[in-house]
Amino acid sequence: MLTPHTLGIHKFLRLLNPLVRPALNIKPNRRLKKAVNIADVRLCAESRVHKMCFGYLDSGGDDEVTLRRNKDAYSQLEMHFHVLSGLEPPLDLSTKIFGQDVKIPFFACPTAGNRMFHTEGELAVAKASKEHGSLYCLSSISTSSMKEISEILPQDYPKLFQVYVWKDRALLRDILAQAKENGFQSLALTVDFSWYGNRERDIRNNFTIPPAYTLNQIWEACKRPAWTWDFLSNPAYTYALIRNDVHADSLANFINSQLYPAFSWKDAEWLCSEWDGPKAIKGICRPDDAKRALDAGFTSIWVSNHGGRQLDTRYTL
Ligand SMILES: Cc1cc2nc3c(=O)[nH]c(=O)nc-3n(C[C@H](O)[C@H](O)[C@H](O)COP(=O)(O)O)c2cc1C
Repeated sequence: MLTPHTLGIHKFLRLLNPLVRPALNIKPNRRLKKAVNIADVRLCAESRVHKMCFGYLDSGGDDEVTLRRNKDAYSQLEMHFHVLSGLEPPLDLSTKIFGQDVKIPFFACPTAGNRMFHTEGELAVAKASKEHGSLYCLSSISTSSMKEISEILPQDYPKLFQVYVWKDRALLRDILAQAKENGFQSLALTVDFSWYGNRERDIRNNFTIPPAYTLNQIWEACKRPAWTWDFLSNPAYTYALIRNDVHADSLANFINSQLYPAFSWKDAEWLCSEWDGPKAIKGICRPDDAKRALDAGFTSIWVSNHGGRQLDTRYTL
């Protein structure tokens, strides 16, 4: 398909960066510097990123009940803290995650397609992880390669690789070998993604990877000039861990063909036997599944509902 990227126009546009960026007032930190909390950061993203990509980033499955409840759960937490403990900042928050030493007790979870939101994509997240001494986790459907990540995070830096339940075992083996080679010590198998969540915002926005050049998408691109300039003046984003012979226009088909709803505990046991480091199972919501996961060979249980992006819930049991 003929697109500005297949025609190589980005190589020419890049040369115009010194002229265009000031004219479009593209200064990455301008709005972010004023952000005082995560809600502000979200607004920064909404005002910069193409509507279809922001929708993908921000949405949940079905009626987004789980997404809302996930967020509300934090406001229901009460802290009954001790006072006058004589602690002097900076506090030492260092701990171990997956047996690795980290400076903070949390990390950025795996998220697909980061270059959709910003041209630096996963590399920016890797740099931020390094700056804060936290574990880095790369998604199977990342838009940066493992090699690029390993150039930022040295071999022994705490790194976790997230895999999906792909159908093709040869592909899975190949991906695991790549992860080992690039210094990923730990593995997480995401088990709540053997089908695509029904994200209604994506349907309304006609979300596709790569983007379709429809009049509506072009109009939305015009409304977000900074994002659009970055998109047009950089190489096209594509899934970096997927075989080179898969063309951009068939990426979605490729992922759909690899999603494997029949993936079972037996397949999970096989995967565990293929990885000799720490291995987590991501997407556990029930105690009986947690016990079963330990029997299958996982060493960590990652309680998660995928940010409410997969299976929504309408009832409280
Ligand atoms: C834009 C976006 C992309 C995501 N991509 C992935 C992914 O590729 N793999 C994965 O396991 N989880 C993915 N997730 C889910 C997150 O890893 C995480 O589970 C979710 O944000 C909720 O956090 P929690 O699991 O700590 O509750 C994605 C989430 C978002 C918002």
